Parts: sequence; C-alpha cells; structure tokens
Amino acid sequence: MKTNKLLFIALLPSLSWAVPNVSDGKLLYDESCARCHQNPYQDLGWSEMTNLIELSHMIHACDGYFQLDWNKQDFEDITEYLNSEFFKLDN
Ligand code: HEC
Repeated sequence: MKTNKLLFIALLPSLSWAVPNVSDGKLLYDESCARCHQNPYQDLGWSEMTNLIELSHMIHACDGYFQLDWNKQDFEDITEYLNSEFFKLDN
C-alpha cells in the first residue's frame, strides 16, 4: 500500500507538495481509518466537529494513538478529504 502510494507520487513529479490531494487522503483513510469509522465516514462521536482546528486535532489524536507516523502532507490530504466529503467546514 505505502509503496504504491510512493510510486504514484513519483510518477507525478508536477504534483505540488503544498496542495492537499483528496484522492491520496481517501487512500489513507481507507487504509487506516475506515475499519473503525466505516466507509463512508461515520461519526463515532462524543464530540461534534465544529471547525477545522478541531477536526485536525482529532485526526492527529487518532494518528498518534495508532502510531501511523504520517507526515504533514498526509495530514493535509486526509483533512481535506474528510472535510470535502463529510464535514464541509469553512474554517
Ligand atoms: C480503532 C478504531 C479507530 C481507528 C482506526 C480510528 N479512529 Fe477515529 N475515533 C475512534 C473513536 C472510538 C472515536 C470517538 C472518540 C472521541 O470522539 O473522542 C474517534 C473519533 C474520531 C474523530 C472525531 C469525530 C468523532 O467521530 O467523534 C475523528 C475526526 C477521527 N476519529 C478521525 C480518524 C482518522 C482520520 C483516523 C485514521 C487515521 C481514525 N480516526 C482512526 C476510533 C478510531
């Protein structure tokens, strides 16, 4: 899985690292989060997400807990993916 992703990125050198990549975020989600949060995403919710800071905190919390060792780009991708698909938060 990880190797495929790296290959994919290597084949698209024009892809900017600064731009969140939603389809990459989906891959990461499917790989690491869907077994608990289902697909499409379901709130397991104690706490409702009301802004992007909260959302990114929870994503970091889940990542930290499962020691996924993601980089900054991975976080941007998955935050963008979850937000554009489900949360639709503006700030
Ligand atoms: C082993 C199961 C499990 C996995 C894997 C998991 N989570 Fe969670 N996650 C939970 C539970 C349980 C909660 C609810 C607890 C809470 O709200 O503090 C939660 C809460 C959240 C929330 C806050 C909204 C809510 O549903 O309450 C977000 C956002 C979230 N997870 C994102 C992620 C992401 C992104 C990943 C992949 C890196 C991930 N989770 C992986 C179990 C999991």
